Amino acid sequence: MPTKLLKSVALFGRELLANPSGTGAAFPSSPFLGKRMASYIDPDTEGWVVELGAGTGSITQALLDYGVAPRKLITVEMSEKLVSHLQQRFPQLNIIQGDAAELQAIVDRVSGETNTQIDHIVSCLPFRSLPRAIGTKIINQIKQVLGAQGKLIQFTYDLRSKDFHHFADFERKDSAIVLANLPPARVDLFTLKKTA
Ligand SMILES: C[S@@+](CC[C@H](N)C(=O)[O-])C[C@H]1O[C@@H](n2cnc3c(N)ncnc32)[C@H](O)[C@@H]1O
Repeated sequence: MPTKLLKSVALFGRELLANPSGTGAAFPSSPFLGKRMASYIDPDTEGWVVELGAGTGSITQALLDYGVAPRKLITVEMSEKLVSHLQQRFPQLNIIQGDAAELQAIVDRVSGETNTQIDHIVSCLPFRSLPRAIGTKIINQIKQVLGAQGKLIQFTYDLRSKDFHHFADFERKDSAIVLANLPPARVDLFTLKKTA
């Protein structure tokens, strides 16, 4: 295994031990998962793309490889250690150490505007393992910042469940299973329901 990958896996493992419910995975995401998530971004977008729970940065790398402009990408991660890893790996990016439950304030700070609307949110947050109240706070913030045409791209390890309790105000537009990930994952593409 290449040294960089080994370092990412070791760092991720330490985070998992320190904060199992917030980390919510045993391994960093694979490039294949990142490629699938990135593929849901409109290639011509000029709006903001926000990544939530960037971890070691494998999805971040896939977003850059896909062509997301670094100046339009806001990467949010709560863990101090992972943030310092991300800042070394991607010195050109807006890496914000923060809580996705304060998303509006975070994106307003970066954009210099108020009530900034976001076109794409790419979320690696482990909603299944986060305490439900925290998950609800985060979803409320996502609903607030996502424009009417905005897309939420979320992955889960729960391949079959249709129990989207956190996503009740969203419509699932597409879904794809990515087997080349440990463990295999499902990517869902959501937009806000018109009535939400
Ligand atoms: C499943 S891991 C992400 C894996 C990542 N794609 C990778 O390849 O390393 C979830 C990440 O969400 C972060 N996280 C959890 N709760 C958060 C919150 N409220 N705000 C921001 N980040 C959070 C965790 O620290 C963790 O890095």
